[in-house]
Amino acid sequence: MAVTRYGLCKSSLPRHVFAAMSITHPTFIKPSPHPLKTSPSLPISFYSTSASLSATKHPHKSKHPIVSLLDNCGVKINKDDVVRESDPANNVPDSIFSKLGLQLHRRDHHPIGILKNAIYDYFDTNYPNSFLKFDDLCPIVSVKANFDDVLVPADHVSRSYNDTYYIDAQTVLRCHTSAHQAELLRKGYTHFLVTGDVYRRDSIDSTHYPVFHQMEGFRVFSPDEWMASGMDATSYAANNLKKALEGLAQHLFGAVEMRWVDTYFPFTNPSFELEIYFQEKWLEVLGCGVTEQEILKRNGKMDNVAWAFGLGLERLAMVLFEIPDIRLFWSNDLRFTSQFSEGQLGVKFKPFSKFPPCYKDMSFWISDAFTENNLCEVVRGIAGDLAEEVRLIDSFTNKKGMTSHCYRIAYRSMERSLTDEEINQLQWDVREAVQSKLNVVLR
Ligand code: DAH
Repeated sequence: MAVTRYGLCKSSLPRHVFAAMSITHPTFIKPSPHPLKTSPSLPISFYSTSASLSATKHPHKSKHPIVSLLDNCGVKINKDDVVRESDPANNVPDSIFSKLGLQLHRRDHHPIGILKNAIYDYFDTNYPNSFLKFDDLCPIVSVKANFDDVLVPADHVSRSYNDTYYIDAQTVLRCHTSAHQAELLRKGYTHFLVTGDVYRRDSIDSTHYPVFHQMEGFRVFSPDEWMASGMDATSYAANNLKKALEGLAQHLFGAVEMRWVDTYFPFTNPSFELEIYFQEKWLEVLGCGVTEQEILKRNGKMDNVAWAFGLGLERLAMVLFEIPDIRLFWSNDLRFTSQFSEGQLGVKFKPFSKFPPCYKDMSFWISDAFTENNLCEVVRGIAGDLAEEVRLIDSFTNKKGMTSHCYRIAYRSMERSLTDEEINQLQWDVREAVQSKLNVVLR
């Protein structure tokens, strides 16, 4: 069973599903018809699950010049303040810095922006003038905000350098939008949606990218709300949460079968996942729960109860728009971007190219510090989005106790054919960088 960022993973689900699973009698909800007709097809999610605590500091510095100053959320961010080779705690490569400030979720013609707006529509229609929307909060946050404030345990795997991008020992690129819960509560907000880019060190394949987008929802109730219901506070909030999110899933996906799965998150209790039945598979749509009382207490909401949810926008957009590869979201190719327009949720993406992948294998003796996330960062540093997948295809330990791994790298461009020469050069550069940065011995 794979270890996930916030718990243990159901072996039957993709490795990156987020929470611990104790599947206790999922509740099935029968579909009812809904005007918004969509037929998503891909059961895909994208969370990291790596468990190792070690990481390479500077896997690779890009050969290509990138802007050294960018404007993010109204704040000027200097590259030298984010990519700092002199700080041993810093593990942010150039390739990640170059994504800061792109804010796909704020583009109304981009699938991620279209999906965000469709979720906004749902909340605006069903809860008029209630939920405040934040989509411009700075992704650079404190370790305290990202982890401590939402009760992520001190020894939790998600805090490791292998999983999270650290700017320095106290500052990270947020790895989830939950990082803003406490701060917004302290500011007095009781109903809010936070959308933003989040960052995780991860493996490489068609559903994993080190930057993706999440939306966080949060609602605080006051005692008169649950008292009038005759229910206890927690049941009232859980009930309300489930109704709200079933409505949202139906708004996005139309008439689908749904089920609730009990799970674990550090910040909620009880915690649930909502799954929908699509294309003959159960697809995890989001995580949610009744907010831990401790979070409310610490942030001035002692007498209240609240619910929260978090959903991954790429994961849902891939299904709704039938987008087969997560790298496409970052493409500026008009053949991709021109297929989507504001307000058009669920227009099916028409693949414009099927250039063949090229596979290259690489074997090496690993050291104790080796992790797959580090390898993937090196590969991305050299090949960028031409790296489609990095997959372990063989592993053995010899009599001396040395372990060898063989990885197969798939190179493929979404936009053009790659030449043999180009791929050979990439593979050569990858081998060199792997050897020099990862302390492994090539075979
Ligand atoms: N932060 C979680 C993640 O990144 C998602 C999440 C789950 C957010 C449950 C929540 C929640 O607010 O209640 O996967």
